[in-house]
Amino acid sequence: MTFPPIRTAVFPVAGLGTRFLPATKASPKEMLVVVDKPLIQYAVEEACTAGIEKFIFVTSHGKAAIEDHFDANPSLEEMLARRGKTAELAIVRSAQLAPGQAVFIRQQVPLGLGHAVWCARHMVGNQPFALLLADDLILAQKPCLSQMMEAYHQLGGNVAAVMDVPPEQVDRYGILDVLKDDGVHVQAKDVIEKPVLGKAPSHTAIVGRYILQPEIFQILGQQQTGTGGEIQLTDAFPALIKDMPFHGVRFTGKRFDCGLKEGWLEANLAFASTRPDLKEHLLSVIEKYYEVRAQQ
Ligand code: UTP
Repeated sequence: MTFPPIRTAVFPVAGLGTRFLPATKASPKEMLVVVDKPLIQYAVEEACTAGIEKFIFVTSHGKAAIEDHFDANPSLEEMLARRGKTAELAIVRSAQLAPGQAVFIRQQVPLGLGHAVWCARHMVGNQPFALLLADDLILAQKPCLSQMMEAYHQLGGNVAAVMDVPPEQVDRYGILDVLKDDGVHVQAKDVIEKPVLGKAPSHTAIVGRYILQPEIFQILGQQQTGTGGEIQLTDAFPALIKDMPFHGVRFTGKRFDCGLKEGWLEANLAFASTRPDLKEHLLSVIEKYYEVRAQQ
């Protein structure tokens, strides 16, 4: 069986980022830098690699930096060209999306992730789409969304990236109630948003990458607020699962929750350690801090 290709991705970037204040007071959380690149650029590059051609950003007041980041910057480009800084010029241009590829729509009030996704309904239309949360940064040899595309072309339906989490952390995630599990593909019979500790149906948790069928929009449109007084995306999954398959893909790679300071710090170390120009410096700095700790 063949399933329609996924060419559209939604990037909800309208959240307040309160767990990362004061950094997010006047600049978007999705523009936080890991090593030398903003989180949202990692997500867009992951989507490009997976074959995405239309990029829908759900933004809000105060997020103009995201729009600027994917636009041309004629004065900077002209100055770099004039000074012969060709490598830097290529870096600047590589962050630019092609004319007509990017769409920016507004979520006027931050009513939750589910509401942000629903705001994209007219732009997505009646087709399956990818959904990427930029603050979930994934370091992987094969990008996580590409791994999910492979699963989607085998299985169809809805696909989410999943990972197994320690039992004491299940209350931070949407957790799968598992029907079938072959080690990589996990079919869900239900999904529970942030279950109470000791009551979770499994330890298999969803992270911020999805391939969703357009039926999700109708469910989200009827949805009431859930955990935290927000319209939760996960709360729409049980209704979706009643009508069509929902699989988790246990991706190969490491995920960092860059919406948290601890996760963002670790992501910087992990990504810098993959960089030939930074690795040695990073290791020598870490050794120095170890010595300081040993002396305390
Ligand atoms: P989070 O759950 O991390 O919420 O959103 P947040 O508001 O960004 O951050 P905190 O909890 O206050 O620290 C996950 C993703 O969903 C988007 C965010 O921008 C982020 O990419 N989001 C969240 C929206 O677009 N709109 C919302 O109303 C909520």
